[in-house]
Amino acid sequence: MTTMPASLSPSPEGTGAFSTQPLASDPRHLLGLEGLTRERLLELLDAAALERDRLRAGGPDRNDLAGCVVMLAFIEDSTRTRTSFDIAARRLGAQTIAFSASASSLNKGESLLDTARLFEAMGAQLLVVRHSVSGAAAYLAPRLPRMAVINAGDGTHEHPTQGLLDLLTLRDHWNGQFEGRRLVIVGDIAHSRVARSAIAGLTALGAHVTVCGPETLMPADVEGLGCWRAATLDEALEGADGVMALRLQRERMDKGLLPALGEYASRFGVTPARVRLMKPGAPVMHPGPVMRGVELPCEVADGESSVVLEQVANGVAVRCAVLQRAWSAWKETHR
Ligand code: CP
Repeated sequence: MTTMPASLSPSPEGTGAFSTQPLASDPRHLLGLEGLTRERLLELLDAAALERDRLRAGGPDRNDLAGCVVMLAFIEDSTRTRTSFDIAARRLGAQTIAFSASASSLNKGESLLDTARLFEAMGAQLLVVRHSVSGAAAYLAPRLPRMAVINAGDGTHEHPTQGLLDLLTLRDHWNGQFEGRRLVIVGDIAHSRVARSAIAGLTALGAHVTVCGPETLMPADVEGLGCWRAATLDEALEGADGVMALRLQRERMDKGLLPALGEYASRFGVTPARVRLMKPGAPVMHPGPVMRGVELPCEVADGESSVVLEQVANGVAVRCAVLQRAWSAWKETHR
């Protein structure tokens, strides 16, 4: 687990690391997919599919979130998640405020919690937070009594809206059926919050997950997450129903964990020949940003099996559904 840089130390207790326990009992928050029931996951996917139909049908922006102020606090870099939350919130009639960490008083030593309390005092009701420390969203949620907290990625822990958009994409390609399906996740499993959310969601829905990657990028307890570990990518892909290649998270790696990129590409790159080992039509996924030529060669990233841009499009629908749910629960609690 990544530890908090002293300059951003958010914990009044001074621990510098947070519990990642979800608050499943408070429906305002979405902190992770782990612990969500099959029924709750399917409800969220159905809501996202409905939002997608509405987005595809076009029409004017809606006012479902009228009066709602959404604080987009990305204290770690993002393109897809930040912009799709922004688009989703605006389409639903919310006001969004993009908090720029690099130009903020975090750089003067203000803590994460004190910063979030400012947002609450200013009247923002929804906090979408990304942070490099695992457990940051779960740490904030119980300390902000008048805010709903949505985890937009916390360290190596979870990325629940990415998990939901991945599930929605797979449901489309798997004819609505998760049971008995098998997804391969390849690459930097150790640092991947995307993998953790996908594993939690898929196993709750009855699908199987096979993981594969360099020894140095594989958590020791990976089988404890409910998946099977393959020795080679070819073995993993044989007869699989889909593959998700992960980004190599070099910003989270200690020196020496990553093999040479050429060696990585040859052992773990999802090449056209490897795509053919899977069942016909099995999708190739990647959460982005893609390291072309390493994780995916261009002919696969842009090829007919790739669903990378479908994942991105589904991200807006998923975030519409998650914001709707958070706002409804917030209104239940506070009005
Ligand atoms: N997939 C994902 O989280 O991408 P961003 O880092 O661009 O938000």
